Amino acid sequence: MNAAVVGTGYVGLVTGVCLAERGNQVVCVDNNPEVVRRLSAGEITIYEPGLEDLYQRNLKKGRVRFSEDLSEAVLAAQVVFLCLPTPPGGDGAADLRYILSVADEIGTILSRSPAAGYKVIVDKSTVPVGTSEKVDAAIRKHVDSTFEFDVVSNPEFLREGFAVEDFLRPERVVIGTGSERAASLLSDLYEPFIPEGSSVIVMDEKSAEVTKYAANSFLAMKISFMNDLANFCDAVGADVEKIREGIGTDSRIGRAYLSPGLGYGGSCLPKDVRALLKSAQDAGAPLTILQSVEEINLEQRRRFYRNVEAHFRGRMEGLRVAVWGLAFKPNTDDVRDAPVFFLLDELLEAKASVCVFDPEATRHVRARYGDRIDYAESSYGALQGADALVVVTEWNEFRKPDFGLMKNLMRQPVIFDGRNIYDPARMREWGFLYHSIGRKSHEAQAAAAP
Ligand SMILES: NC(=O)c1ccc[n+]([C@@H]2O[C@H](COP(=O)([O-])OP(=O)(O)OC[C@H]3O[C@@H](n4cnc5c(N)ncnc54)[C@H](O)[C@@H]3O)[C@@H](O)[C@H]2O)c1
Repeated sequence: MNAAVVGTGYVGLVTGVCLAERGNQVVCVDNNPEVVRRLSAGEITIYEPGLEDLYQRNLKKGRVRFSEDLSEAVLAAQVVFLCLPTPPGGDGAADLRYILSVADEIGTILSRSPAAGYKVIVDKSTVPVGTSEKVDAAIRKHVDSTFEFDVVSNPEFLREGFAVEDFLRPERVVIGTGSERAASLLSDLYEPFIPEGSSVIVMDEKSAEVTKYAANSFLAMKISFMNDLANFCDAVGADVEKIREGIGTDSRIGRAYLSPGLGYGGSCLPKDVRALLKSAQDAGAPLTILQSVEEINLEQRRRFYRNVEAHFRGRMEGLRVAVWGLAFKPNTDDVRDAPVFFLLDELLEAKASVCVFDPEATRHVRARYGDRIDYAESSYGALQGADALVVVTEWNEFRKPDFGLMKNLMRQPVIFDGRNIYDPARMREWGFLYHSIGRKSHEAQAAAAP
């Protein structure tokens, strides 16, 4: 099929490249000329494991192209995917400016080419319930009533870090439409992607829109539940990691998203929880549980930093703090809404000096902090003369470090582990003062800090 993808960021680029990989002819449109220039020149713009190879192959074969020209891409396509940003507005509601302005442009384009043929406009962005109708109206107001098109809600469930795998072999594809013609066309398009045991679930537009928010909010709820529970464990001397194992093995609960830590971040969970909260309030059916999910998440960062401060008895000025990990999770360079920012701001406010290391995300953090912090070339480089190490992102390369070398490099052997990646008993053996989350019962030595 001929497809257009509008918005060539994390979702759009993965969508475009993966559709091309399955033999479709794809034009990816972006209004950022730099994105189009780089991608056309063979320079990938995001870090996503496995994407570079697919992108290079399909670019060379001419199956995917990059353009600023929306009109050319829309007119050539049977299916137009909207992969545009939906950032939170001031009141938490998703800002639909990008989606609706592109819908309006598409309407204008189609009105000039009445013979363009049937089009399916697919909303892949995460949007509040009722957006399909708005997109439909924004296009319809331009075109003749005989012009044939459908607007479909097809939320994307890919996970950054596993995006290629998720797109090429999805657990499910949700198609929200009342149109059999659109459902059948999209089912055909997705057919080569659906592994055995997975399904295409067709539903109405509104249910599809809510499905995406429900999925992300449920995942956020699991994380906040575990963080709340971790604090309870600290209070009663239980080990949250044992409990995680104990409940994660229950198939009704599942293992995923049960890790206590610094809380969720990224471009999706925080904004989607807020947007669903707002939609529910507006509908007069508040989802009160999500209020707590969000509050716990924000409090978790504050509590973690209070522990750092408490360890040093509030005397942070002049301390050297090493930070391992900046990305909101491993295997991505995405730092949007990453928990690390709260920590960096607090450390700088307290006049500590900070040296950070991340395998992929440093350039984004450098753009924000400039020379207010130091940037190491390696994880060990960040530890030179450090009074403490804070582990923020659980990249694999941080999991089994050379603890002897770490101790030699650091001025004080103090670790605050925001992801529970080390074993408290081993840390004690190595002589570290080790703080983690929900495992206070194992951190006796840390309690005897200076
Ligand atoms: N990132 C994820 O993991 C993920 C997963 C599932 C769903 N989503 C949802 O998908 C949507 C896109 O997310 P993303 O992370 O890909 O965003 P992104 O910011 O990485 O990409 C958006 C792209 O759209 C481009 N753009 C903006 N306005 C445009 C316009 N008028 N015309 C053409 N291009 C335009 C931007 O330049 C940018 O390249 C959001 O609604 C998000 O919530 C994201």
